[in-house]
Amino acid sequence: MDYQRNRQAQELFDGIADQYNWVPDLFSFFQYRRWRRDLVSRFQVGPHSTVLDVCTGPAGVAMLTAQSHRCRVVGVDLSPEMLRRAQHNISSKGLTGQVPLVMGRAEDLAFASESFDAVSVTFLLRYVDDAESTMREIVRVLKPGGRLLSLEFGVPSNPIARALWHVYTRRMLPLAGALVSRGWKNVGDFLGPSITQLDQSNTEDNTRELWNRLGIQDVQVARLSLGGAVVMSGVKGNAAQNTGR
Ligand SMILES: C[S@@+](CC[C@H](N)C(=O)[O-])C[C@H]1O[C@@H](n2cnc3c(N)ncnc32)[C@H](O)[C@@H]1O
Repeated sequence: MDYQRNRQAQELFDGIADQYNWVPDLFSFFQYRRWRRDLVSRFQVGPHSTVLDVCTGPAGVAMLTAQSHRCRVVGVDLSPEMLRRAQHNISSKGLTGQVPLVMGRAEDLAFASESFDAVSVTFLLRYVDDAESTMREIVRVLKPGGRLLSLEFGVPSNPIARALWHVYTRRMLPLAGALVSRGWKNVGDFLGPSITQLDQSNTEDNTRELWNRLGIQDVQVARLSLGGAVVMSGVKGNAAQNTGR
């Protein structure tokens, strides 16, 4: 197996972990926290549930899920530096024990099939070679009736908003990134074109079809911040909805 994409992702995220608590919020004009909140509000889980947060990064989504729903959340990420930052964040919020962390790859999760009541995945697909097999692996560990939630960047559909978004992501983001660090400059350079490319290759229809093919039903799509972010939600299989409450 070729792990080149994983190595690239690890290098990229190891290099930006120290500033990840504040830079995405600032660079998105404080929309990032809104996107996380929207995603987390869609979980239907409770104190007896265990949620998997794939691509947990500094554990922003994982901690918010644990606090909002009083459930246990397992965070998975391949970047040691992100996990170090996540552990620091979890400890300082007193969530140690409620939010355990596991180093691992989304493509090959070290969990039994159907072991989580719900799963979230954030900003993953640009870092994997095979979106379908990675999503299949993520769906594998979800219990029937459990909810799958994803958060991804999007491209605004309104022509004026899209033009402004284009100028911002192509011109201003690389400059803003360079002011923070070399790692953030790299992010600023590649993110805009990557968002456009992913938006074209993984259209809403394609993604719905893929989720349906993987057994995810009742797929709902919410576009936030003029379409700059896309939250998707669906339920696995035909089983009665697993609320875990
Ligand atoms: C944008 S961050 C996610 C942010 C986070 N969920 C939050 O709360 O804000 C994306 C994360 O995905 C991780 N990642 C990238 N490719 C991965 C893979 N194949 N398997 C697991 N994690 C991966 C990166 O290390 C990074 O921490």
